[in-house]
Amino acid sequence: MKLTILGGGGFRVPLVYGALLTDRAEGRVTEVVLHDLDDSRLYAVARVLREQAAVVPDAPRVTATTDLDEALRGADFVFSAIRVGGLEGRANDERVALAEGVLGQETVGAGGIAYGLRTVPVAVDIARRVARLAPDAWVINFTNPAGLVTEAMSRHLGDRVIGICDSPVGLGRRIARVLGADPKEAWIDYVGLNHLGWVRGLRVAGRDELPRLLADADLLGSFEEGKLFGVDWLRSLGAIPNEYLHYYYFNRETVRAYQQVEKTRGAFLADQQARFYEEMKRPDAAALTAWDRTRAEREATYMAENRETAGAGERDADDLSGGYEKVALALMRAIARDERATLILNVRNQGTLSVLDADAVIEVPCLVDANGAHPVAVAPLPDHATGLVCAVKGVEREVLAAAESASRATAVKAFALHPLVDSVNVARKLVEGYTDVHPGLAYLR
Ligand code: G6P
Ligand code: MN
Repeated sequence: MKLTILGGGGFRVPLVYGALLTDRAEGRVTEVVLHDLDDSRLYAVARVLREQAAVVPDAPRVTATTDLDEALRGADFVFSAIRVGGLEGRANDERVALAEGVLGQETVGAGGIAYGLRTVPVAVDIARRVARLAPDAWVINFTNPAGLVTEAMSRHLGDRVIGICDSPVGLGRRIARVLGADPKEAWIDYVGLNHLGWVRGLRVAGRDELPRLLADADLLGSFEEGKLFGVDWLRSLGAIPNEYLHYYYFNRETVRAYQQVEKTRGAFLADQQARFYEEMKRPDAAALTAWDRTRAEREATYMAENRETAGAGERDADDLSGGYEKVALALMRAIARDERATLILNVRNQGTLSVLDADAVIEVPCLVDANGAHPVAVAPLPDHATGLVCAVKGVEREVLAAAESASRATAVKAFALHPLVDSVNVARKLVEGYTDVHPGLAYLR
């Protein structure tokens, strides 16, 4: 079985390869093709993979190419984990937004829109090529903003593209852990959009254990989301929000915290990763050790500003291994071998949330088998959550329309309608600021 990884020179590729190395079963991936635009990044990551494979018999064969069509031909699965504009682009997304007093996070608010506007045309081109060159392949999209990018690709690939994110699994795992439940046995009632969802229940053997958590202040305040949102707010909501909702519920504080840091997340990662890729050019570098050290630092500092705003302290040691690669592998196995699994994924709504149309990509538990991912029926969201989901889906649709029509006015509309952008004038300035710094937005007229 052949797996093609787009963004194959990306820093998180060794996580995926590491997960593949644990898979010894029949029908596993035997061939990995890394694709990237940048040769030196491919070389760096291939070095890490070589060291990973050295201690494992029959490790999947790895090749690398900068030719996209060649990478796609004959693929059974395509992982898309690209970053249009690189981490410098991410840092610029943050800087331009913060200068206007709004959030520049890569998936939420103005930053997410800017990143979406330059990623969608590239993702659509990839989707078209997959449809032509590997029509039977399944595409697993990691590229952020993951819900929006998956929806853009689904217009060309239908349900053969599935978006993934590790934050809902991580959230479910943390809740199960504090409740003393086995995460594998727990049914997590989660729904929303990517980075905009809520856990409304966690059932073990048919019994909802979430009320027990909400009733116990010590338990509730003991894990990441309890510390971020505070016990009182979680009780008011009667649900546990995805950590990215911190940017909505505490927007003023997070914007201020990001304005005050010496380096934003994007700027920090741009420097950190540049050092790693530089180090990989030294012939004597210990690739796997350097990669792991860099990864550990990245994990430890994840959402540091949010945690500081909330006085949440350091991350829990158990939360430091995201699980992104495990979701990807579980999804691939379920499809390739018809090993039925329930996973929280980004798929087309198809009536799951009645307030959205059938083609809107949402994040929801799905039953996965050889025929793909099928969203399960869930209870409707409360009005306040429906309001946010509809507003943000409306914005995503404007981003898709702007990318398709190349219309600057539509791009302004996308920014202006976002609940975290508070003025049409700000939206106009954002479009100006972003088109000034991003060559990838030159298409907007
Ligand atoms: C979480 C999010 C991902 C994001 C990742 C890394 O897992 O769900 O969407 O890519 O964190 O975040 P970072 O700030 O380290 O790039
Ligand atoms: Mn994510």
